[in-house]
Amino acid sequence: MSSNSLFRKKSLTAIIKDAKDGLSDGHETGGMNKVLKVKDLTAMGIAAVIGAGIFSTIGEASFHGGPGVSLLFVITAVTCGFSALCYAEFASRVPVSGSAYTYSYVTFGELAAWVIGWALILEYAIGNIAVAISWSGYFNNLLGGIGLSLPDWLASNYDSATPETIAAAPHIAGIPFIVNLPAFLIVLLVTYLAYVGIQESKRSANFMVALKILVILFVIVVGFFYVNKANWHPFMPNGFSGVLKGVSAVFFAYIGFDAVSTTAEECANPQRDLPKGMIYSLIICTVLYILISFVLTGMVPYYNLKVNDPLAYVFTQVNLPWISYLISVSAVVATTSVLLVFQIGQPRIWMSMSRDGLLPKRFSKIHPRFKTPSFATIITGILVGIPALFLNLTIVTDLTSIGTLFAFILVCGGVLILPREEKSTVKRFQLPYINGQFIVPGIIVVLVFLFSKEIMTKLSFAGGWEVWKHNIPFYIFVLVTIALSYFSLTRKLSLIPVLGMLSCFYLMTEIALKNWIVFSVWLAVGLTIYFLYSYTNSKLATKA
Ligand code: ALA
Repeated sequence: MSSNSLFRKKSLTAIIKDAKDGLSDGHETGGMNKVLKVKDLTAMGIAAVIGAGIFSTIGEASFHGGPGVSLLFVITAVTCGFSALCYAEFASRVPVSGSAYTYSYVTFGELAAWVIGWALILEYAIGNIAVAISWSGYFNNLLGGIGLSLPDWLASNYDSATPETIAAAPHIAGIPFIVNLPAFLIVLLVTYLAYVGIQESKRSANFMVALKILVILFVIVVGFFYVNKANWHPFMPNGFSGVLKGVSAVFFAYIGFDAVSTTAEECANPQRDLPKGMIYSLIICTVLYILISFVLTGMVPYYNLKVNDPLAYVFTQVNLPWISYLISVSAVVATTSVLLVFQIGQPRIWMSMSRDGLLPKRFSKIHPRFKTPSFATIITGILVGIPALFLNLTIVTDLTSIGTLFAFILVCGGVLILPREEKSTVKRFQLPYINGQFIVPGIIVVLVFLFSKEIMTKLSFAGGWEVWKHNIPFYIFVLVTIALSYFSLTRKLSLIPVLGMLSCFYLMTEIALKNWIVFSVWLAVGLTIYFLYSYTNSKLATKA
């Protein structure tokens, strides 16, 4: 195995040609329906973004951060904004399915492409487990509203079950049988929709998006009348570090705008429309999120927000149970649409990986009638549905956020080494080049100056190994920052991707060490599969 072969790359032209032709046995892949326009793509972005994050995980983030969590929404939006621009650049240069996976195949080469494809499973499939669990919580609320709620042992998991639930559950060979049945059933239903076609999925997504935006706007408007300004003071009751405890939850709320890029082959004009779709959806969600975080923390004191259904909860607190019920309905709709987009996205990434020979050919098989990657869609359904029966929300949320941040870093990094195109022959989105030579080191110096106290605490050895080990990610971040500042200075790197890499990396350092460990194990498993299967079966290898 030569190190060169690990970095073998696909050329841009080859990738675009492959997507047009399908596999060498062309009839297997066939063409996909090109029906998506800017409006659909924006709707799809919003469909993927607004979901479990704002309806569930934000509760705990507000509990730790207080009203200051709105600041975290701004910081995270800026971080996602840099990444969205880099995604947009790639989507307009490499308009084929596969998203970040395909982008890194062109720039970093095969090994990195595999790693990113593997990390994207965390974002799409594992992320969807979290969303399904959150869906189930709100769905059970709804059933409860009409007196039909399921017994806890059928809508929960062993980790979060109360002693009463464990006692009430049937026991099989002495083991309590506790499963999240609604989470499993919704995955089944959404997988079916994804299987039967993009046209149908598009229609459902557009409808669900319209409904959830209306409800969210309604919540914001009505909520503002119930704000008690006293709740906004103090703005950061647990300091900035309290706010930062919400990184994983808040970032999770933004995940999804990038999923739009997996539908490149189903777009009428991907080079122009995909970037617009991603950026518009991110902007719309950012505005809504910031407003919601103000409403939420203004309506009740932050320390009451440690609940799984914060938006519904605040309205019961101000004696408006019918609005609370309406929110539960829209949460069910909102999370369904997130499920749908990710359940569509994951098989398309696998399809691209299979076209390249990194996964078995069946993953790129297109259904002759429905024109969707049928086998890959079913596998996604199994991979998401079964764990959703058993896992708890926090584990999967953290893992999703860390995996997605990692993918964003590689996408931003990829833009840095993407060969500059002198003059584009087609009308397409182009990432503006801003020389980062002095701006990057300048920003770093200012930040070091402003946050010197916090930085010194993070770098200090006081507290011994048990405390220090949690700062290992920060040390790595410092090294990366020094390296990127140096290269910005010497090679005039493009500003936006550099800031994208640094901000995503920083957010990663705020996610607990134990998630870094699980993430590393995940990557190790991925690499093992690569070397056992994909390395030799890669189309680039067989060609060579
Ligand atoms: N952003 C998506 C959600 O919050 C993943 O559900």
